[in-house]
Amino acid sequence: MSKKEIILTGDRPTGKLHLGHYVGSLANRVLLQNSHHQFVMIADVQALTDNFEDPQKIHDSVFEVMCDYLAVGIDPCVTTIFLQSMIPAIPELTMYYMNLVTVARLTRNPTVKAEIKQKHMEESLPVGFFVYPINQAADITAFKATLVPVGNDQLPMIEQTNEIVRSFNRIYKKEVLVEAKALVPKVGRLSGIDGQAKMSKSLNNGIFLSDSADELARKVKSMYTDPNHLRVEDPGNVEGNPVFEYLDAFGTDLEKIAELKAHYQRGGLGDMAVKKYALDVLEAFLAPIRTRRKLYEQDRAQVMGMLMEGTQKAKGVAAETLKEVKEVMHLNY
Ligand code: TRP
Repeated sequence: MSKKEIILTGDRPTGKLHLGHYVGSLANRVLLQNSHHQFVMIADVQALTDNFEDPQKIHDSVFEVMCDYLAVGIDPCVTTIFLQSMIPAIPELTMYYMNLVTVARLTRNPTVKAEIKQKHMEESLPVGFFVYPINQAADITAFKATLVPVGNDQLPMIEQTNEIVRSFNRIYKKEVLVEAKALVPKVGRLSGIDGQAKMSKSLNNGIFLSDSADELARKVKSMYTDPNHLRVEDPGNVEGNPVFEYLDAFGTDLEKIAELKAHYQRGGLGDMAVKKYALDVLEAFLAPIRTRRKLYEQDRAQVMGMLMEGTQKAKGVAAETLKEVKEVMHLNY
């Protein structure tokens, strides 16, 4: 297959990755990496915009995220994995793009708005955090990406990026930058083990790719199910029941899952039995990932070497775009 479209995507390194990350983005990356030019960025600069007081956490998470990527099968031979802070073209592009975005427009960004509220930054909003959508536009455009696989919450970032692209090309009278399309996966998010709508590290309701078999068993046992399913003989709800949601996402025996759902709905199937099967399914999924991850964890030099190799390649690509940008801005001295 010929590789046509350029993909740019990434994660803020603020900890280890969980099953929600897998469903929302990692699975897609593994799937798309052979048919596309894929760049995956570890967004440490962006992570610092709301973690600047905890640089050690971000530093350590770079290696953890890298291990998670490799363990799930993102292959550095076909995917360029790189570190944002080592690409000097990105902050330089960010600075030029800032001229093209109004404060009012940034204030309206729904994702930034929600994050400011969630993190209680209303009274002390750092400028760096406020402008991170512009920085993200620089990430995407530096690679002339046309596809950005992301979760729903990132759609405003792509919109913002495309507005910058159109303004830039119009003002500087050349089609230097390229618009990007968001690619949102069918099942874009996963509930937490507590039944909350989103699995998230900060909500402490996640199953991590690196969890041990014991941790996994403990978490599955404690999972939220249908609160009205009190006795085994009661009919239960599979909608909004994370145990069944996980079976749908990670199970392979579709017939058996359909049977379990029917049985649960008509009554007579206990939560313990469903959880036991869910544990088997999740363990079958996670065991090989855990084994591969262990190997990478033990070889920090090799893992960081792969990241540095990808970063060198990415640096060259971004520098090319920056050169074109500076040329049309008459910054070509
Ligand atoms: N904002 C993304 C997140 O919080 C991470 C990210 C940074 C990103 N730059 C990107 C995603 C560019 C896609 C494209 O998960």
